[in-house]
Amino acid sequence: MRTVDWDYKTGKLLLIDQRKLPGIYQVNEYQNYQDVIEAIQTMVVRGAPAIGVTAAYTIALCGFESKAGVYDELVVDLTRCASDLQKARPTAVNLGWAIHRMLSYIKKNEETDTDKLRIAILGEAQRIADEDVVTNLAIANYGSKLINDGDTILHHCNTGALAAVDWGTALGVIRKAHEDGKRIHVLVDETRPRLQGSRLTAWELAQYKIPYDIITDNAAGYFLSRKMVHKVFFGADRVASNGDVVNKIGTYMLALAAFDNGIPAYAVMPTSTIDSSISRGDLIPIEERPSNEVLNIQVGGEKVVPEGSSARNPAFDITPNRLLTAIVTEKGVLHPPFAESIRSIL
Ligand code: MRU
Repeated sequence: MRTVDWDYKTGKLLLIDQRKLPGIYQVNEYQNYQDVIEAIQTMVVRGAPAIGVTAAYTIALCGFESKAGVYDELVVDLTRCASDLQKARPTAVNLGWAIHRMLSYIKKNEETDTDKLRIAILGEAQRIADEDVVTNLAIANYGSKLINDGDTILHHCNTGALAAVDWGTALGVIRKAHEDGKRIHVLVDETRPRLQGSRLTAWELAQYKIPYDIITDNAAGYFLSRKMVHKVFFGADRVASNGDVVNKIGTYMLALAAFDNGIPAYAVMPTSTIDSSISRGDLIPIEERPSNEVLNIQVGGEKVVPEGSSARNPAFDITPNRLLTAIVTEKGVLHPPFAESIRSIL
């Protein structure tokens, strides 16, 4: 099934519960928008494109939840829902992008029958979900041409089908290269502290039958310096108009090590992840998540940190555009200078 989907029989939003993978495959059902906000915050659903599509469906859900009988009242309810949703997670711009697209659609829609409007709103959310798959396939087609037969690829976080509706971004590129018959090997970094790499990316790769090894995040520099990696691929949560990439914490160190060793680093994302209103990466808000995500790590069933320790837990970092070889989007592969190549496609 899709990572994020709508059940037309029950009128519920369906989300694969990513906190439970790889051990348990569970699909959660939602019919209350506040519960979806909590699901986004607690990472039932995560990954920039998946969060965006979830937000679109949630606005539709909100329409069905609202008791409003006239257009103006319905719009008030939908706007409140949109503003609550906007606060769910701050960094991935796809959330705001999807909300903006839904609100613009509602504003432009001249339907005065509220029940018909509710259905039209769901139709727009469904279009956003379907377009996500088409977009990711286009990204995969462009990006897979960068991969050669025999390549070893280092991948960060989870950017696969679980991070979108299907296919995903950087992992979609890798999957397409594999489906095209290229023999590739993936080094999957764990992606501490939430382990999106070892839990989710490894789970996806196993299903696609793509050979992989899990490595600790700290081992990346070793493999890069020994030239045991041909290319580094990662996704993005928000890209500034100059091409600086904000992505999962650890991306910056990985890109630095790749740059120092002359190994190409590719950032892969839909154009909906590019925020042209922000000129540089350091202006993008970075989410700081609860410290227990860092402190609760256990070895052999035992907590490893001294009682009373505190922790800092930024969820994303900023990779300056100078460290990137290219940016892959559904509109093509962009090369430096990124400010220019980004402007040309937007
Ligand atoms: O905190 P997460 O798991 O939502 O962060 C996800 C990432 O950083 C991904 O690399 C990014 O969203 C690209 S996913 C297609």
